[in-house]
Amino acid sequence: MKTSAIVLAAGLGTRMNSELPKVMHKIAGRSMLLYLLDTLAELDLEKVVLVLGPNMGQVSDLIAESGFKVDIVYQNERLGTGHAVKQAENILSGYKGNIAILYGDSPLISIDTIKEMIGARNRTINPALVVLGFSPNDVSGYGRLVLDKSNSVEKIVEEKEATQDELAIKLCNSGIIIADGEILFDLIGDLTCENIKKEFYLTDVVGIARARGRDCLVVEGTEVELMGINSRAELAVAETITQNYLRQVAMEKGATLIDPNSVYFCYDTILGKDVIIGPNVFFGPKVKVGDGVEIKAFCHLEGTRINKNCTVGPFARLRSGSNISEDVHIGNFVEIKNASLGSGVKVNHLSYLGDAKIGDKTNIGAGTITCNYDGFKKSVTDIGSESFIGSNTALVAPVKVGNNATIGAGSVITKDVEDNALSLTRSEQKNIPNYESKLKPMKNKN
Ligand code: UD1
Ligand code: CA
Repeated sequence: MKTSAIVLAAGLGTRMNSELPKVMHKIAGRSMLLYLLDTLAELDLEKVVLVLGPNMGQVSDLIAESGFKVDIVYQNERLGTGHAVKQAENILSGYKGNIAILYGDSPLISIDTIKEMIGARNRTINPALVVLGFSPNDVSGYGRLVLDKSNSVEKIVEEKEATQDELAIKLCNSGIIIADGEILFDLIGDLTCENIKKEFYLTDVVGIARARGRDCLVVEGTEVELMGINSRAELAVAETITQNYLRQVAMEKGATLIDPNSVYFCYDTILGKDVIIGPNVFFGPKVKVGDGVEIKAFCHLEGTRINKNCTVGPFARLRSGSNISEDVHIGNFVEIKNASLGSGVKVNHLSYLGDAKIGDKTNIGAGTITCNYDGFKKSVTDIGSESFIGSNTALVAPVKVGNNATIGAGSVITKDVEDNALSLTRSEQKNIPNYESKLKPMKNKN
């Protein structure tokens, strides 16, 4: 049987206390809504309808950028989760198939769990609804699933409406439901807002379906995939869950994490085999690391490609547009931005290379700075291969240094340097012999 989905994301996310729509908040560098859409994309659904609130242009822009195929509908008044589902009626009314309803703020659900629910929906008893339950450690805030003797769901009660007995129930509503598309909007039509929040609760469709003699089944998932994100504290819990997952995957694929709990990945980090990552390393978006690379403690990387067998850090910062060839050594307190380093380059101490191109096997001495910004615009520093840049050199861009060139330590290079040349700009050293004997009588006078 075919399946379509409705994703609810119109809520204000008041408890986040944020200008940003809740579903745009990021987990491991990616907006939470995109995790869910990614999972749905793997399910080969017929349609995905996304319900947004008014003034959520940022979310529709995000969807457009991401390339996911979704129909967006708007819920102009936020009258509850049931009312939000109703906004998809024009697109999915009378749908002959399953309609999966998911919440944008429960983005970590696994594909297997959704498949299990679809399997339950397709059973011969033809349940009107399959509800996804879970038993979190902390049940507060969640609706409770009231089961009958045969373990079918009799109704869902919201926490605020629950009796003492119902509050003692540990089985909670994840919010995710798979419904018989042919009757879903009939059931929604019967919802009322006679409750504490004066909202149309989607959860009431269970009671309505049961009153019509249709069955409602429950499938159980785990807290790790089903937690709802309503506050910054819950966002932090989702971050921890996701980081632990990414660390696990990295290790399974052949990376050594010396202290896994202190390494932070982005959802799109790619690591090769036999990569070693020291403690306290942070990966921002778009980092790809080749085989045999060692990233030592306290490095921060984003938008960077590192090829085979390099060593990076400790305490290095690699920013967007860094392209590091094989066998490069990047040492402590080195910052690299929008620069490509040829194979075998060494930049071992206290340097800034920004908007630069460095040829193979060039040595960048301690304290070398590419002065890429003149206060108005950025310019490029281009250094050839097998050159030697002396310590504490300032390269004022735009400037070119050829192959096999040598720059004397402490130079400020403003003009191009040709291949094989030595260039230095500091004044000559002067030594005054016996200075101490001249100094002593002067000291004694005072
Ligand atoms: C909801 C469930 C609760 C469940 C919990 C799981 C209801 C009535 N309650 O509670 O049983 O345990 O999720 O996390 O469904 N939304 C809209 N329009 C609205 C209201 C909400 O699109 O008018 C969207 C929100 O953006 C969100 C989702 O629906 O993605 C859930 O809304 P939220 O207000 O977070 O519901 P909870 O109180 O968490
Ligand atoms: Ca919620």
